Amino acid sequence: MNDLQNTSGNADAQLNKLTIIVDSKKDLPGGLLPILHDIQHEYGFIPKVALGIIATKLNQTEAEIHGVISFYHHFRLTEPGANIVEICRGEACQAMGSKQLENHAKTSLNIDFGQTTTNKNVTLEPVYCLGNCACAPSVKVGDNVHGRMNDKKFDKLMNKLTTFELSLSDNKLQENK
Ligand code: FES
Repeated sequence: MNDLQNTSGNADAQLNKLTIIVDSKKDLPGGLLPILHDIQHEYGFIPKVALGIIATKLNQTEAEIHGVISFYHHFRLTEPGANIVEICRGEACQAMGSKQLENHAKTSLNIDFGQTTTNKNVTLEPVYCLGNCACAPSVKVGDNVHGRMNDKKFDKLMNKLTTFELSLSDNKLQENK
């Protein structure tokens, strides 16, 4: 059993896809980062099984590949939740209270940066400027940036995500009736 089996499609097809991604960039100078970006774009994370494939193709050790992945905050080794919530830790946001917001988010969601809520709804990530400094502090949920964030607005936003998830499962229940 590998960590690709939780993703859609059958595991062999996923392994083939992974190999094609690695092969497509393995001969580029500095090909490792583009490969990691492509894999994360495809799966939402870097499946552990990919490390062995990349290491073999790039003639490096898995520890070396792991070291690069851990160095960059952007890459993750576990499957993210349904929603990725990024809290800006850039200077402008820090000056406008993002640290307090960060503490509130971690406490209310009961997770740290890089972790996912037990219901798999939210993954919390730090980010270092969302290009929205004039409306700091900023938070990004999926593709949407929200400015002038505070604890209350954050809770409302998280409630909406939960409500959306519930209405999706309600629909599923109705479809199954
Ligand atoms: S520093 Fe947070 S959006 Fe720029």
